[in-house]
Amino acid sequence: MDRDETPGLRTSVLDSTVALSFAHRVRFTRRSLDPANPALREVFAHDAAVRDRRAVVVLDGGFAAANPAFDTQLRAYAAAHAPSMPALVETVVVPGGEAAKHDTRVADLVVELVERHRIDRKSFVIAVGGGAVLDAAGYGAAIAHRGVRLVRLPTTTLAQDDAAMGVKNGVNRFGKKNFVGAFAVPHAVLCDELLLATLPDAVFRAGFSEAVKIALLKDPALFAAIERDAARIAARELDAASPVIRASAHLHLRHIVDGGDPFEANEARPLDFGHWAAHRLESMSAHAVSHGDAVALGLLLDCRYSNLKGWLSDADHARIRAAISGLGLPMRHPLLADAGALLRGLEEFREHLGGRLTITMLRGIGQGFEVHELDAELVRRAAAELA
Ligand SMILES: NC(=O)c1ccc[n+]([C@@H]2O[C@H](COP(=O)([O-])OP(=O)(O)OC[C@H]3O[C@@H](n4cnc5c(N)ncnc54)[C@H](O)[C@@H]3O)[C@@H](O)[C@H]2O)c1
Ligand SMILES: [Zn+2]
Repeated sequence: MDRDETPGLRTSVLDSTVALSFAHRVRFTRRSLDPANPALREVFAHDAAVRDRRAVVVLDGGFAAANPAFDTQLRAYAAAHAPSMPALVETVVVPGGEAAKHDTRVADLVVELVERHRIDRKSFVIAVGGGAVLDAAGYGAAIAHRGVRLVRLPTTTLAQDDAAMGVKNGVNRFGKKNFVGAFAVPHAVLCDELLLATLPDAVFRAGFSEAVKIALLKDPALFAAIERDAARIAARELDAASPVIRASAHLHLRHIVDGGDPFEANEARPLDFGHWAAHRLESMSAHAVSHGDAVALGLLLDCRYSNLKGWLSDADHARIRAAISGLGLPMRHPLLADAGALLRGLEEFREHLGGRLTITMLRGIGQGFEVHELDAELVRRAAAELA
């Protein structure tokens, strides 16, 4: 379409909409490295006819230390399933935990490996670990060649019930969470619940704060199941924990796939309920508070705020506190006494997304809604109670 307005100021308008679709392959299994289990092989079945497919493996250091046989078993599995599996050309072990996201070193290493081993867009980076290593390695995979295929094998409860489902990668900079990163849909995600066996108790429990979050937003029945089984989950009974991990993963995935805004173009970011304070608390504590624990505290804060505002009933508020406590998650933190520092997180949160401040609050279990401003005095009061 051409627009003729002022003579000599003619603009040709070629505006279009670019629509893309991606396969998002997610599988839950057990004993994924048993050669009799085809699940891992199957995530590489796509394009199996392409010759000379390669993969580099990035292992979370904490996971690798607790699972010294993993790399050998992975290689044996790949050998047993050649040629359906790519050739595993190198395994690197990187620092686990938030240290993987303190700078761009892990991402840079992935980019170097892609170059060194001639990983092309039909080849793979296989990232094995917690959410932090998946985020950092995923960022490297997303920027090398503008995106090589990423296969995630999440090894924490949080990575399996939330982080690995996402389409976000990134690392922290300027003391701000996920300041640099990229949206990229992973090639595949394979969750093996038996890989959770070696997690420290605190890390195991921390992952359930994301399940509580999504249940509070979307699924009262899941919240009731968490409430009922909290003690068994905290005691690491997989019969109780596993259905919650899967249900949470499924809800996170459905939100991304069906929610209409996978790359967060809109102002609202409902999955970040409880996260404005959580991200700030992580930074304020120099990451001594883990993401999962920070989310538990952020949920407690925003639920109490919702309660003080009269949106959330005392009864629902008490149920939420009891569930979080029953899971063995933290119920208070001294840094919450510094409400001024905490409130500075609001602007960081807004800036990350752009546009108006949009925060999710609760008016009942399963009933989130959005607000665009917070009453600083009430935030102070809620935070002081949790300090
Ligand atoms: N991309 C997303 O959409 C998304 C979503 C949620 C959270 N996150 C990010 O995920 C990170 C938190 O991830 P996390 O909770 O998985 O923790 P983590 O990655 O920080 O790992 C916690 C600790 O567990 C160790 N570990 C991992 N697996 C193990 C195993 N099986 N046995 C023994 N030790 C093991 C790690 O080495 C680390 O020391 C945060 O940076 C958060 O911002 C990202
Ligand atoms: Zn989170």
